[in-house]
Amino acid sequence: DTSRYETCLLAADDDGIATAARLLAQGHCVAFPTETVYGLGADATDGRAVAGVYAAKGRPAFNPLIAHVANMAMAESLVRMTPQARRLAEAFWPGPLTLVLPRHGEVSDLVTAGLDTLAVRVPAHPVAQALLTAIGRPVAAPSANPSGRISPTTAAHVMDGLSGRIAAVLDGGACAVGLESTILGFDGDIPVLLRPGGLAVERIEALLDRPVTLHEGSDITAPGQLTSHYAPRGALRLNVVEPEADEVLLRFGDGPSEWSLSASGDPVEAAANLFALLRKADATAQRIAVMPIPTQGLGAAINDRLIRAAAPQG
Ligand code: TXA
Ligand code: MG
Repeated sequence: DTSRYETCLLAADDDGIATAARLLAQGHCVAFPTETVYGLGADATDGRAVAGVYAAKGRPAFNPLIAHVANMAMAESLVRMTPQARRLAEAFWPGPLTLVLPRHGEVSDLVTAGLDTLAVRVPAHPVAQALLTAIGRPVAAPSANPSGRISPTTAAHVMDGLSGRIAAVLDGGACAVGLESTILGFDGDIPVLLRPGGLAVERIEALLDRPVTLHEGSDITAPGQLTSHYAPRGALRLNVVEPEADEVLLRFGDGPSEWSLSASGDPVEAAANLFALLRKADATAQRIAVMPIPTQGLGAAINDRLIRAAAPQG
């Protein structure tokens, strides 16, 4: 039974963080802020707790989760770092980068959905850092939204989707990045992009001084790879310059407006505003249209999310 909670909204002060850590250690699901989006956390070493995450989200059980840890030492207790992975981790952790690496530590098989690799990330948000340090265990956390819907970038978004289904939400304000982490795996020595996200792939290529391969076809079914994902209720049209009468147009580089993703055409600002503006537009208009957004930098991840949000819902 997942609808038995009176979900409490916790302030992100010392008391709130201690309460959240205690609830997690007791096997409950707690949503917490990261710099990318809010995560729905569970103790990654506790299979029952992790099962609670799948149940609360209505997530298909074959989709593996990211293990969040406080630092590199904790990451190394869970996965085998390769030289390239170590360079990336040293450059970009804490931050919006998830590395998929061979596992060797103690996490529930429900976290990896039976794979012999584990996705790990050290989040940069100070509240996430404090929580992970307090619990001292890996925390499995997908985005804190019902499966397939728009990811949450505020505590209120989490409440909208999961109130009554989880123990608590730790309120750390709006997420600075606003898009999920970039997920990178390796095929032998070749870095493979599994999901574009909050760290621009150009920065990974510059650091490694080699191109990153795009993941094609898949042996793993990842929710971020399902066609319809991040979906608003109403229809969404992309690359629109002239909206139709029943559409609200999300603008980019087009001067200030209530509906600007970024008035100045800055993809970092647009990423931070994307999910909140999609929610607002979905609540306001029958249909949503979005102006063209260039694919450089975070534009690649923004377009990825928009294409999935626009896909026909099955
Ligand atoms: O920014 C983020 O990454 C957020 C915050 C909360 O950290 N989390 C997040 O989790 O977006 P989620 O579950 O919505 O997306 C995790 C993605 C999924 O597409 C999943 O299939 C993939 O990571 N994944 C996890 N483990 C994997 C593995 N071993 N191999 C390949 N893909 C994996
Ligand atoms: Mg998600």
